[in-house]
Amino acid sequence: MKGVILAAGKGSRLYPVTHHIPKPLLPLANRITLAYAFDKLKEIGIREIALVVGENEPLMRERLGDGSEFGIELTYVRQPEPKGLAHAVSFAGDFVNREPFVLYLGDAIYADPLPPFEEKFRSSGCANLNVVKWVEDPSRFGVANLDGDRILRLVEKPAQPESNMAMAGLYFFGPQLWDLLPNLQPSARGEYEITDAIQLLIDAGHLVLAKEHPGEWFDTGTLDSFLQTSRYLCGEDVRLAADAKVQGTVSGHLVVGEGAEVEATSLENVVVLPGARVRVQGSIRDAILGGEVEVSGDVRRQVIWGGESISY
Ligand code: DAU
Repeated sequence: MKGVILAAGKGSRLYPVTHHIPKPLLPLANRITLAYAFDKLKEIGIREIALVVGENEPLMRERLGDGSEFGIELTYVRQPEPKGLAHAVSFAGDFVNREPFVLYLGDAIYADPLPPFEEKFRSSGCANLNVVKWVEDPSRFGVANLDGDRILRLVEKPAQPESNMAMAGLYFFGPQLWDLLPNLQPSARGEYEITDAIQLLIDAGHLVLAKEHPGEWFDTGTLDSFLQTSRYLCGEDVRLAADAKVQGTVSGHLVVGEGAEVEATSLENVVVLPGARVRVQGSIRDAILGGEVEVSGDVRRQVIWGGESISY
C-alpha cells in the first residue's frame, strides 16, 4: 500500500504566517504538522509516500528532503493550481501505479490508530473505504448517507445535510478510482471534489464503505482549530523547544519554537514559531506569532508575522 498526502493548499485561513511557512510545516507541539501524518501512515506499514505540493514546493523540499529523516521515502508531485482534492490526487496516478493507496489530507490529526481501518479495507475487498466521524455541524464537510457501513450517497458541504457523518479526510482506495477520475466534472464551487469522485464509484456499482473514527480528529486549517490541536497535543502546559527563551507571565497553553525568544507581560494560549523574536507590553491571548513581533496593548485572536497581523 502507498500513501498520498495532499499539501498543496494555500493555508489562507492562517495568513500571514503561511506566507512564510507552509501550513503543513507549521509546528504542533514543536513537531511539524506533517510528521504526524507520516507517523500515522507508518502505523499501517506505509513507507512510500507522494506529497502533492503547490507553490510551496521549494520550501517543502528544503525542509523534508527525501523523507529519510522521518523514516519514509518521499516523492513530490506538483499540482499546478489548487483546483480540488480529486484534481490533486490525479497527479499522483503514476506514483500510485494502480496499487491500493491511502489518501491523507495534510492538515489532519487523528487520535485513533489506523490498523483497524486498513484491515477493514483489505478484508472487505471494497473499492474505497472512508473514515467518517459524527459531527455537530456537518455542513462544513463532505457528508455521507449510510446504510449500515455502506455509503449510499455523498454530498460536499450540503446546506441541508442528510446525516451527521462527516467525511474525515482519510480515504483508502483500490485501482477502480483511476478509471473514473477522467469523467469527473467540477462542482458548483468550481472544484474537482473527492466526494464527487467517490460518488462516481458508488454510481458505477462499486462497494464503498465507511468506518467511524470515534476518537478526536482535528483539521488544523484555522486559528481556532490550530490552537485547539496544539492544546490537545501539549495540554495546558508550557512547551519550550530546547533553545527557546521566555520571560514574563504565562497562563495556560504556550508553545515556543526552536530559537525563539519572548519577552512579554502576559501570554495565554499562544504558539510562537521557530526563530521568532517577540516583545509584548500588554497581553496576548489566542494567537500564533512569527518573525520579529513588537506589540503593545491587548491582542486577542490574531495571527501575526512581523509587523503584519490578521484578526480571526
Ligand atoms: O477535513 C475534511 C474535509 O476535507 C472533508 O469532509 C471534505 O469532504 C473535503 O472536501 C475536504 O474539505 P476542506 O474544505 O476541508 O478541504 P481543504 O480545501 O481545506 O483541503 C484539504 C487539504 O487538501 C489541505 O491540506 C490542502 C489540500 N489541497 C486542497 C485543495 C483544494 C490540495 O492539496 N489541493 C487542492 O486543490
